[in-house]
Amino acid sequence: MALVEARGLTKVFRRPQKDPGLRGALKHLVQRRFKDFRAVDGIDLSIEAGEAVAYVGPNGAGKSTTIKLLTGILVPTKGTVAVDGHQPHVERIVNARNIGVLFGQRTQLWWDLPVRESLALLRDMYSLSPTFYKQRLERLDDVLGLGELMPVLARKLSLGQRMRADLAAALLHQPKIVYLDEPTIGLDISVKDRVRQFLRELRADGTTLMLTTHDLGDIEDVCERIVIIDEGRKIFDGPLKEMKDQFARVRRMHLQLASSVPLAQVAAVLPETEVAQGDGPHSVTITFDRFTHTAGQIVSAVLQVTEVGELHLDEPAIEDVVRKVYAGELLRESV
Ligand SMILES: Nc1ncnc2c1ncn2[C@@H]1O[C@H](COP(=O)(O)OP(=O)(O)OP(=O)(O)O)[C@@H](O)[C@H]1O
Ligand SMILES: [Mg+2]
Repeated sequence: MALVEARGLTKVFRRPQKDPGLRGALKHLVQRRFKDFRAVDGIDLSIEAGEAVAYVGPNGAGKSTTIKLLTGILVPTKGTVAVDGHQPHVERIVNARNIGVLFGQRTQLWWDLPVRESLALLRDMYSLSPTFYKQRLERLDDVLGLGELMPVLARKLSLGQRMRADLAAALLHQPKIVYLDEPTIGLDISVKDRVRQFLRELRADGTTLMLTTHDLGDIEDVCERIVIIDEGRKIFDGPLKEMKDQFARVRRMHLQLASSVPLAQVAAVLPETEVAQGDGPHSVTITFDRFTHTAGQIVSAVLQVTEVGELHLDEPAIEDVVRKVYAGELLRESV
């Protein structure tokens, strides 16, 4: 069994329905009406120990709600979840030992306590031995630079400092799986890099990660697998590379030619492609469909016309691919 197993995971929220204006508000007071809203709608998800999964989707897609279901903060309306064989919302204490969670938008630290005190409270909650606690703090201090933050009240921390302290709090008990909901939100580039570096190290230690983010740089740096959801449903689940291959059909190749050849002559040997002037004097850019031509065929065809110097194939940008997936352009892609 996988470390995380969700089957048909569904969360329905009841939303109050109210007509606009004062009249609507009064009517709502007398006769309350609600409408069901499916924030998470039949999600199946298996995560194996050691995997790093990016969970992405547009605003309101149901990412945070899924994390709350997987961590036991919310109770599923339908479907099942098991984390290391335990139902999170039922076996809360066992589950808490196995998982760590970070919500980038909200701190888990005690607002009016110095970081040191928050961590000590967590140490007691998890019944960590003094030796383990000491070693763990040293390790977290190494990678997160906790030392300087220890005496500071949580509410006095800057956002980047707060995120480092929150990461330490989420990881103190060395959980098997860590859920990170937007761990780099609002951080400047240097802190973001530091957090990403830290997540890579966590992976190397064998920790299982699931992270939601709108910053796709986080994904390429840390994860190999991507799950995309939209309106509570899963629309893609697989390796990052496969997503690029599946959704980025159109590729672009830049070639430096040995001599000046009219574009029409190149185009003549490359039917069903688009041949355009490149940046340099003898350079061309060829746009082609990966399903119709291979990169090798393109080069061979050009060699019939002239010698080729440098060549470069654009990597599909994950941003472009995800944007297309969000926009519902699953089959008409061009990157
Ligand atoms: N407690 C709640 N009561 C009612 N509706 C809720 C509740 N929590 C979330 N929702 C709704 O469920 C939907 C999914 O919300 P969720 O927070 O999971 O989205 P998300 O994918 O995390 O979005 P974002 O990228 O903006 O963080 C939204 O339409 C939201 O308004
Ligand atoms: Mg969210």
